[in-house]
Amino acid sequence: MTHSSLPLTSPSIADLLPDFDADIDHASLNGIDPDVNLITFSQSKYFNRLLTHDPHVGLSVLSHNIRVLDLFLDSLATITNTLATEKNTTYIIYSHVERIYKELEQLGIKDNDPLDVHQVSQFDQYHYHGTESVAEATKKLGIETPPKTILSSSSHRVLDIGAGLGGPSRYLAELTGCKVTAIEMQEDLHLVATDLTRRCGLSQKVTHICGDILKYDIGEAGKYDFIVSWLVFLHIPEKKRLFEKCFGYLKASGQMYVEDFWKKSEFLPEEKEILSERVYMRDPPPSDLDYIAQIKEAGFDRVEFDDVTDSWSDFCKQRAESYRKLKERHVRVHGKDVYEEQDAFFDAMDFLFHQGHLGGCKLIATK
Ligand SMILES: C[S@@+](CC[C@H](N)C(=O)[O-])C[C@H]1O[C@@H](n2cnc3c(N)ncnc32)[C@H](O)[C@@H]1O
Repeated sequence: MTHSSLPLTSPSIADLLPDFDADIDHASLNGIDPDVNLITFSQSKYFNRLLTHDPHVGLSVLSHNIRVLDLFLDSLATITNTLATEKNTTYIIYSHVERIYKELEQLGIKDNDPLDVHQVSQFDQYHYHGTESVAEATKKLGIETPPKTILSSSSHRVLDIGAGLGGPSRYLAELTGCKVTAIEMQEDLHLVATDLTRRCGLSQKVTHICGDILKYDIGEAGKYDFIVSWLVFLHIPEKKRLFEKCFGYLKASGQMYVEDFWKKSEFLPEEKEILSERVYMRDPPPSDLDYIAQIKEAGFDRVEFDDVTDSWSDFCKQRAESYRKLKERHVRVHGKDVYEEQDAFFDAMDFLFHQGHLGGCKLIATK
């Protein structure tokens, strides 16, 4: 489709979409990087309205302003492309994000009630060993943890990549008083994360961004003392670009902490299939040596690699067993479909670790 094929005489945007605030939305549209494949919530609401509008009228409205149209077409192409090529990879990876609200309801906590980080952290950590692992990372990295007073806060700035429900970000901010930028690609997770952070009274400390770390420009090169990321890099095959981006966001001598999978030895075809279909890994993970080499190639000076396979393997075994023991309770709270999906996933992870080819690691890379 070329721009010139579109009708150029058109009613104004304000005529057709009376509550459309041209200035605000125009400003946000101008801010869109044509290369993004995820747009912010307010932008997506606007695009959705245009898309669901009568297409003819919608296009006429867009032709009103060629700059808007350019951005629209670019974004539309990228969205279409994303849906087509990333359907089962990185767009919607985690389903049933509402589970956390059902768990809170079981504790008598209603929507919009204020929350305590320690209450919610039982349910908002999508990685192994929950807050224990976050506390351990804080110590290892030496994130300032000033004594707790009303005014206490750490001067450290942390970027949490693939924040999920925001659990690790909130826990870090609560524990240390540091400021966290939490970037999460999946919009529903991002929205729940933002809601939980507000209800925990941590919005001043944790800033949530919805975007793909590879595409979204946080615009704060060299500003972060630490990057942290729990079980996210496994979903991102473009490691070279990822590590280069991370390197760019860190201050001199800044540190990147990553928990991830690695390849201990060759996977069987069946394992590869599970990694792709159930764990949403487009490529199997790298070996320990490849992982370290790729991080160093991005410019990092030192890389510490800690093999935690045994501990994660035990965790997965126990998780699968205890989940199944409480089948009746989980079915009652979440429904049969959700129970079965979770059960199959926990089982698949237990199987993968049991096979002995998948490894777990904690990495610290220093700029
Ligand atoms: C296993 S969850 C971990 C969530 C969180 N780190 C935690 O430990 O609770 C992986 C998360 O990474 C997010 N993710 C995957 N690829 C991403 C990307 N390219 N940019 C931002 N987030 C991404 C997923 O949407 C998902 O929420």
